[in-house]
Amino acid sequence: MQNPQEVQSAAAALRKALEAAPCSFSQVMGMRKITGTTAEDNSVPVGLVLGTGLSGLADRLAERVAVPYADLPGFPVSSVDSHVGAFVWGRFPSSCGEDDVPGRPVLIQQGRCHLYEGRSPAEVCMGVRVMAAMGVKTLVITNAAGALNPHFDAGSIMCMSDFINHTGHSPLLGCNCEQWGPRFPDMSAPFDADLRTLAMETSARLGLRLERGVYIGVRGPEMETPAETRMYRQWGADAVGMSTVLEVIAARHLGMRVLGLSCISNKNLPDCMTPAPLEEIILVAAQAGKNLGRLIRAMMTKL
Ligand code: HPA
Repeated sequence: MQNPQEVQSAAAALRKALEAAPCSFSQVMGMRKITGTTAEDNSVPVGLVLGTGLSGLADRLAERVAVPYADLPGFPVSSVDSHVGAFVWGRFPSSCGEDDVPGRPVLIQQGRCHLYEGRSPAEVCMGVRVMAAMGVKTLVITNAAGALNPHFDAGSIMCMSDFINHTGHSPLLGCNCEQWGPRFPDMSAPFDADLRTLAMETSARLGLRLERGVYIGVRGPEMETPAETRMYRQWGADAVGMSTVLEVIAARHLGMRVLGLSCISNKNLPDCMTPAPLEEIILVAAQAGKNLGRLIRAMMTKL
């Protein structure tokens, strides 16, 4: 079911907390009201969802303010230790190193909740919907994922070209919330082609290898069997994970432009399956997260 009132209350509480904090939030939002903006406008905050092992990306921000999810009425708090559980407002330092150029404002979801925690699709997508209510038009969504494509290495980064929703759920069930988007939103291009090109060009400039591929989202929490792994690969998926797909559906419903980046934390090859313990996934995702951070920082002013 869609939950517009709950999203509005959480967004109002977040706005109030950020307005009271010593940061540029009120100034940025005030400017936006006066000037009117497009998604590419550098004063519009970019939304960033940080997945497993990637929370550290929110630490090096100028004017940083964190608002714990627990302070927002009805906002779900993740039960997974590696998911911090706060919205973070701040500015990514300008990539050209010019101190007098204010960095791009960002609103970061530091950690998320998942279906496998027993959360509903509406709870899983609440962060993205709160970001939209705060004026975010461009969303960068990250996760840790297992490679299905045998050419991908653990520790690499994949830019999502498309997804398969194999969770058995949709965040759009029930009465449609017309103020969010249409009853039957288009999914012919879930990830924005221009943002993907920007990611490819930026990674080439930085000398970083960036894989491209299809992400399959599963419910979990159990990891895949060899037979499932073989089937997902035959379906055309390059990486598998337990998040992201419902959030991208909700974001596209809201008309946001989406860039999806996976940190490949382990390899899932049906003929030589090995266990992928959570500690290892977090460690490898955090290592890949350093390159992901470089990539995101370098793209920020152009998003
Ligand atoms: N399977 C499912 N989810 C994951 C994996 C995986 O191999 N790695 C990281 N998240």
